[in-house]
Amino acid sequence: MTYPIYLIGYMGAGKTTVGRLLAERLGWHFVDLDDAFHEIHGLSPADYIRTYGIEAFRRKEKYVLEDLAELPIEKVVYATGGGYPCWEDNMECLKELGTSFYLRWQPHHLAERLALTDLNERPLLHGKDATEILEVIRPQLEARSPFYEQADYIIDAPVEDTLDGSEDEQLAEQLYELIMTD
Ligand code: S3P
Repeated sequence: MTYPIYLIGYMGAGKTTVGRLLAERLGWHFVDLDDAFHEIHGLSPADYIRTYGIEAFRRKEKYVLEDLAELPIEKVVYATGGGYPCWEDNMECLKELGTSFYLRWQPHHLAERLALTDLNERPLLHGKDATEILEVIRPQLEARSPFYEQADYIIDAPVEDTLDGSEDEQLAEQLYELIMTD
């Protein structure tokens, strides 16, 4: 397996939480690319999109990831922004730069998880309950899935029916085992 590791997936997939836990377990660095974007450009992705639009955001987001990949540190777990893999040749870039893992969830589980988070940073979902969130994300997830599914590994969230709150820890453990045995 080549390093670094890129976690990809829809909003609410746990890229940040799982990435942080995984990096801790591996003793590696962790970088959240939304946070890196904020630090470099002085605005959060949501504020940047509100101010300059989605096209401008995607272009800058691409360079944030590619510039960081030039650092001479390989043992890094990156949490990517949810839309990053679905723009231009970004998925190909990820596969060239390191190993990608798609954290795949059923849309209704994503909606449930997102409904429990602070939606201020997610303007499209702000003020909506889990049912309304599901209506917004279902078509978008369907459109994005062909990109996400090009990941080197697809990891299905460990949940059959009801969420019990241990999913992120389980995902991190699953990834850890996979990385250690490869
Ligand atoms: C986006 C997801 C966000 C952030 C931006 C756009 C998207 O990242 O990059 O608001 O298009 O799905 P998270 O997936 O980390 O929330």
